[in-house]
Amino acid sequence: MDSIIVRGNGPLKGQIPIAGAKNACLALMPATLLSDEPLTLTNAPRLSDIRTMSELLASLGAEISTLQEGKVLAASCHGEINPVADYDIVRKMRASNLVLGPLLARLGHAVVSLPGGCAIGARPMDIHVDALTALGAEIELKEGYLHAKTRGGLKGATHEMRFASVGATENFLMAASLAKGTSVLKNAAREPEIVDLATCLRAMGAQIEGDGTSEIVIEGVDRLHGATHPVVADRIELGTYMLVPAICGGEVECLGGRVDLIESFCERLDAAGISVEQTKDGVKVSRKNGRVRAVDVVTEPFPGFPTDLQAQMMALLCTAEGTSVLEEKIFENRFMHAPELLRMGANIEVHGGHATVHGVEKLKGARVMATDLRASVSLILAGLAAEGETVVSRVYHLDRGYERVEDKLSAVGAQIERVKAD
Ligand code: EPZ
Repeated sequence: MDSIIVRGNGPLKGQIPIAGAKNACLALMPATLLSDEPLTLTNAPRLSDIRTMSELLASLGAEISTLQEGKVLAASCHGEINPVADYDIVRKMRASNLVLGPLLARLGHAVVSLPGGCAIGARPMDIHVDALTALGAEIELKEGYLHAKTRGGLKGATHEMRFASVGATENFLMAASLAKGTSVLKNAAREPEIVDLATCLRAMGAQIEGDGTSEIVIEGVDRLHGATHPVVADRIELGTYMLVPAICGGEVECLGGRVDLIESFCERLDAAGISVEQTKDGVKVSRKNGRVRAVDVVTEPFPGFPTDLQAQMMALLCTAEGTSVLEEKIFENRFMHAPELLRMGANIEVHGGHATVHGVEKLKGARVMATDLRASVSLILAGLAAEGETVVSRVYHLDRGYERVEDKLSAVGAQIERVKAD
């Protein structure tokens, strides 16, 4: 397993290109199952999760080819479709569950393994099952697999989700696009990745309105055709790299970034004393002066503060002036970065869903271990600002969601290198 070594190197300055959104691409790729015509995704990120989704779709009978060094994904699904999403692939990545809706819509049946455990929480699928059942699916759990079928195809319906689940919204959108009649999804997730998926489905001929709000209306159509769609910028990668000048000092411009994708995050940065400016090329960030101010954070569904930026924000607040309280309201176990930050001299108390961070002057480099995708990058951020050397092990977690992290950070002056496992 590779490690990454980071050495604190003072203020950093330069430009970092922001890639296409992992969490948009992982929902867009299964949309290829909805049509027998090609779907081309441009601005695709080059990540291990994308390769895992490609592997899963290929096992179902789709053909996925990568062009332009992986930035373009050309997908098509015109032959025999295998309706079984196997445990051995699904267990590697929860987003595999996004093939359930499309398989049901295209074939009328599907057998999809439950993803199994995840570091940050149990992450059940009840909201997905309820939403697809509302469209007429019959779904039962047998030996770890969801067996889903419809008699006579999916039918439009009105359904209110108990929680604004991102994945369940995406499964419902894709299934309802080919259902007979009108569907209305209430308490729908409003994330930009939902809007990106709806935009792509409309390009394929779907009739969808209200995406980005909590009520989405879908008029089912008989078939969907091929399309070419640019993956939206990754707001989580953007927020992560915006924290580099915040935690180290200096000034960084995140190329391709859009403030409107993470307004609540930008509001917290402003409250902490960080300057954020939308430029014609992206988002420019600098630390105004002196130490960062402590701020409180509560993670919520969009447009609230993104849970996927909580770990990274905690790294910033470890050296803020004062005490911050972070409340994690989306996942039940998403503070695993805290014990690793404690090894670096942070002062953090975790009680249930709350973490209280008492800012310290400086963190100290240490050997730390990545536990999940966003925790791993929070340790990199902490290492950039710490005195001495930090060695982050198990960086395969990092490679799931950040392409070429050491190249992007080296370009702004960071002292960072990857040590390949022998
Ligand atoms: C998406 O996961 C993202 N992943 C996650 O990003 C992100 O943290 C999450 O949305 C919340 O924004 C992708 O888009 C691939 P949810 P998803 O369904 O769809 C519970 C990252 O770091 N829940 O909105 O799985 C669930 O347990 C990843 O890039 C149920 O109880 O998120 C969680 O506590 C991590 N039953 C909460 O809802 C269900 O049927 C949010 O889940 C579904 C979800």
